[in-house]
Amino acid sequence: MLIKSHNKHDCTESEVTDYSIYVKRRQFIEASARSLGLAAIAPSLLLSACSDAATENAAKGISNSDQPRDELTPYEDVTSYNNFYEFGLDKSDPAKLAKNFKVKPWSVRVEGAVEKPGVYDLEDLLKGLPQEERIYRLRCVEAWSMVIPWNGFALADLIKKLKPTSAAKYVQFETLYDPQQMPGQKGRALDWPYVEGLRLDEATHPLAFMATGLYGKELPGQNGAPLRLVVPWKYGFKSIKSIVAIRFTEKQPATSWNIANPGEYGFYANVNPKVSHPRWTQRKERRIGEFLKRPTLPFNGYGDQVASLYQGMDLKRYF
Ligand code: MTE
Repeated sequence: MLIKSHNKHDCTESEVTDYSIYVKRRQFIEASARSLGLAAIAPSLLLSACSDAATENAAKGISNSDQPRDELTPYEDVTSYNNFYEFGLDKSDPAKLAKNFKVKPWSVRVEGAVEKPGVYDLEDLLKGLPQEERIYRLRCVEAWSMVIPWNGFALADLIKKLKPTSAAKYVQFETLYDPQQMPGQKGRALDWPYVEGLRLDEATHPLAFMATGLYGKELPGQNGAPLRLVVPWKYGFKSIKSIVAIRFTEKQPATSWNIANPGEYGFYANVNPKVSHPRWTQRKERRIGEFLKRPTLPFNGYGDQVASLYQGMDLKRYF
């Protein structure tokens, strides 16, 4: 993956308004949740624009002084600085080239070791799944990060609905292949279609999320409309966009960046400041919109919730 510098942090007036209304609403929701004692149940899910790090860190017993604040990344940045190689290699390409990306109708193939295989219309696939908002940090392997309010549903709920068989140990996801709409697929930057995968216990972990929107709006094409994965404790390349197939497998499935460069991109891709990328350190990251770098946290700060998934594993070997 290439690293490009980013200077564009100005918001248009309408987006600034959107954002400030949004933040006020979040503060209200969080204050109400706290008064009901909900923050104690799921502090990281209630991460808000202003008191997020404080809430989360208090729950972890970390003092605030050693943790910089976590503020929402402005909508403008979330939707204009993207990695979506199907729409070009430059960070500004996806917003331009996904403008007319057609996401309706959309269907998803469910295959492999599962009781309910078939081709589902997206609406049918999502019927009955509880909708939620989750504010998650996204840490790209290129050492930049954002804080994004996602809308969608728990991946575990979808998997429960599809009923994998006892043979299923992993789940693989596949992005649309359509070079007419996705000009990047005419080039050979990666083997298309983009594929990603998780171990089934990772996929059914309560933090694993499927997004259909962000900032309370429909997911823009450049962010992976109409359906994308969000795995907040892993590097961003695991969070595959514009999903058209979900496949349950017995063996560890192929993943795009691992196929492209197995020495640099592993299957697990857990955020780990102690394991450098062969070409750069992962100890620090630049939060988009900030000047100073901040330290990268193990599992992107979600270690108290997910580290047990990897107990006994050598995380240097299984990077
Ligand atoms: N999914 C597909 N299909 N193609 C891609 O190129 N890029 C990944 C991931 N999902 C990518 C993808 C990478 S490297 C990152 S960092 C995140 O998407 C970026 O998500 P964002 O643009 O919504 O911030």
